[in-house]
This record gives sequence, structure tokens and C-alpha cells, in this order.
Amino acid sequence: MNIKEITYTLRLLEEDDLTTDHVMAMLNDPEVNQFLARSLPVSKSDERNWISSVNSSQSEVVYGIFVNENEKEILIGTCGIHKIDWISRKAEAGIAIFHKKYWEQRIGTSVVRDMLDFAFNTLNLERIYTSALSFNVRSIAMQKRIGFKEEGIRRNSFYKNGEMHDEIMLGLLREEYYAQKS
Ligand SMILES: CC(C)(COP(=O)(O)OP(=O)(O)OC[C@H]1O[C@@H](n2cnc3c(N)ncnc32)[C@H](O)[C@@H]1OP(=O)(O)O)[C@@H](O)C(=O)NCCC(=O)NCCS
Repeated sequence: MNIKEITYTLRLLEEDDLTTDHVMAMLNDPEVNQFLARSLPVSKSDERNWISSVNSSQSEVVYGIFVNENEKEILIGTCGIHKIDWISRKAEAGIAIFHKKYWEQRIGTSVVRDMLDFAFNTLNLERIYTSALSFNVRSIAMQKRIGFKEEGIRRNSFYKNGEMHDEIMLGLLREEYYAQKS
């Protein structure tokens, strides 16, 4: 496959980053939301409150994924380290590229690797876990290529597209990540 590498920037979200009409439309797009844990529509005030709560939280870090289009900074998704447990040194990773034209261009792979470097090197965590709906083959393929191991299945965990779906649990330890990188 010949994929042109796309340059992106990760930065903390500001209050109004998620509230433009274009971003709101993407956040409420059923084709995107079918893959996410969230099912209810979101409003501008939901998004403002969410940004304010994550930016003041000691247990999660969320970044916006931005690309440059015609000299303009465009928000295409978010990624984060959530539920940080500072005693057991583990956390949950999450990513959503909600601008669909940017799917399958290896941005997800690269962003998750950036987040893992941040989680293991800067936050000094030992274990990162995540999960994906069983039909989200793109996400599962990406996580496994990065080195996540399948750790189990939560049966009938999410109702999406008119039926129940299993949730695939995935985890990655710091030593495994650096062993396969070297
Ligand atoms: C999931 C997501 C983060 C992946 O990011 P991305 O930039 O699109 O993915 P990448 O291009 O880095 O990698 C996708 C991989 O899936 C593979 N893939 C795609 N369709 C596939 C299929 N039907 N079967 C198997 N593998 C498939 C691709 O070939 C690619 O692997 P490769 O690079 O080894 O060829 C992004 O698509 C997204 O945010 N989707 C919507 C929300 C979502 O699903 N979030 C994750 C919730 S767990």
C-alpha cells in the first residue's frame, strides 16, 4: 500500500475546539458513533463541559488531533489516556478520528504510538488497555499491529445498529512495547 504520510499536531483542546458546526456534525455522525462507547447525541455545552473537566482532571489527558488544510488548522479527532491509576500504574487509551476522509491513512497508528510513548515515558505507566466493538476490524487490526494483545471478550456488551455486540479487550505492557520497538 502506498500511503502519503500526513503531518498532524497533537495539542490540548481549548473550550471551543469541538463546538464549530462542522465538528459538531462529525461528532454526531452515526457512521463514526457506531464504533464508540457513546450512543446519545452530544451538544455544544456537553463538549465544552467535557473539555473543561478533562483539562482539570488528574486522571486523564486528552489531546486534539489537528491537520493543516489550506493553511487552516482542522480538528480531525481526539485521543486520550483515561482512568489513570497512579498506584497500579495503568490507564485506558482511546482514540476517535471523526473526520472520515482521514481514516486508513495510518494516522491512528502513529497517534496511538505517540500516546503510548507519552504514557510509558512521561507518565511512567506500566500497562495500557483499550477495547473495541467486535465489528470494528479497523481498530482491532491497528491495535494488534501496534502490539496490543487480545485479553478477553465481554459478551453482548454494546447495543449498536439494532443488535448486541461483543467487546474485544486489549492490553499492552511497557516491556512488550519497547521490546518490539527495538
Ligand atoms: C479506528 C481508528 C482510530 C484507526 O485509525 P486509522 O488511521 O483509520 O487506522 P490506520 O490506517 O492507522 O490502521 C488501520 C488498519 O486497519 C486495517 N484494516 C482496515 N480495514 C480492515 C478490514 N476490513 N480487515 C482487516 N484489517 C483492516 C488497515 O489495513 C490498517 O492496517 P495496516 O496499516 O496494517 O494496513 C480510526 O479509523 C477511527 O477513529 N475510526 C472511528 C472511531 C473508532 O473506531 N475509534 C476506535 C474505537 S475502539
